Amino acid sequence: MDYQELKNIYDTPLYVYNFDDIKSRYEALKSEFKARKSLICYAVKANSNLSLLKMLADLGSGFDCVSIGEVKRAILAGAKSYKIIFSGVGKKDSEIKEAINLDILMINVESSAELLRVESVAKELNKKARISIRVNPNIDAKTHPYISTGLKENKFGVDIEKAKSMYLKAKNSSFLDPVGIHFHIGSQLLDITPVHEAAKVVAKLLNELKAVDIDIKFFDVGGGIGIRYNKEEPVNLYQYAQGILESLKGQDLTIVCEPGRYIVGECGELLTSVIYEKINDKKRFVIVDAAMNDLLRPSLYGAYHEILSLKNTQTSNCDVVGPVCESGDFLAKDINLPDLESGDLLVVKNAGAYGFTMSSNYNTRARAAEVAIEAGKHRLIRKRESFEDLIKNELVEDFGAKY
Ligand code: LLP
Repeated sequence: MDYQELKNIYDTPLYVYNFDDIKSRYEALKSEFKARKSLICYAVKANSNLSLLKMLADLGSGFDCVSIGEVKRAILAGAKSYKIIFSGVGKKDSEIKEAINLDILMINVESSAELLRVESVAKELNKKARISIRVNPNIDAKTHPYISTGLKENKFGVDIEKAKSMYLKAKNSSFLDPVGIHFHIGSQLLDITPVHEAAKVVAKLLNELKAVDIDIKFFDVGGGIGIRYNKEEPVNLYQYAQGILESLKGQDLTIVCEPGRYIVGECGELLTSVIYEKINDKKRFVIVDAAMNDLLRPSLYGAYHEILSLKNTQTSNCDVVGPVCESGDFLAKDINLPDLESGDLLVVKNAGAYGFTMSSNYNTRARAAEVAIEAGKHRLIRKRESFEDLIKNELVEDFGAKY
């Protein structure tokens, strides 16, 4: 790909996604579950660009959403409502109402309080809400503590005993239809054994529910498949799927999985231009036009993203930092790059997941543009924000005429 051409046309910072690679990854995962009924519900939070969602919807993908905004995005992009799941620990009544009215596949319930809310909203609408319950199997996912979600101390889901009583409650309600069971133990999982252990624990619950006539149709194993940011051993998809299939032997149900990062992470790059270099007390800083507001992962999690230069000259140690007024504003620390000049391009790798979606307008910085590469062609899929976009919702008395 001609990065320089992309920079000349679209300017930087710029997110670039390879749609052909995204398609291949979706298809590779889908085919691992071919022995069973399965539904891949792409986790919209990883990258919610409408063109990307549309491409996945056209392939038959379902969607895992964590706000009514994400549900609406998916529907706008052409998703079938019966392939949409609505998860999240805190859903407002208005969101639950819209989700029921949109007739989505299921609302993923995360607490008893929420079950009661869903029931009462469904009753108001005189409808039966399809639900699943997020079970917390108390299994250590062995990932970064910020993105580990399957332990007792995490805020997500309910324990097995609580889940049982919630299923019974749902079964006896005229306004709830318990169709699914769900768990998600964490993100960026490189060791998939904990997912298999969780699947076993949850499959056992499935049998207990069957014994009391609760017939679950969707077994949702969450997302979490890790990717290669540095030198990590990639997850073996065959083994991942086999372990899950194994735990469900003899059960007639649809396997749902909710990958986000796996589908898009390695298929996106953030292009950024050098503004200038600076040396402070022998430390070399490369100051670029992308910042923590564009890609938060390094600042928030100390996450590693490889950064490539288009130059081949001799390298030396440096930090790559953005223009935001925070010492925590960096894209990489202690990496080796050639001597760079103003305008030189750098490519931040593996930025397709949790890149743009976690970006903000901090320091009144406009968010980046997004470009898709498909069949060798590039196209703009999101315009760069303008200053007018940034201030358009602000109300200032006697001031409006200025802009
Ligand atoms: N399903 C549920 C219920 C989730 O909470 C998540 C992610 C996923 C699926 C998708 O997980 P994935 O396949 O992408 O690992 N901002 C963090 C990641 C937060 C993940 C939150 N939940 C990061 O940049 O690493």
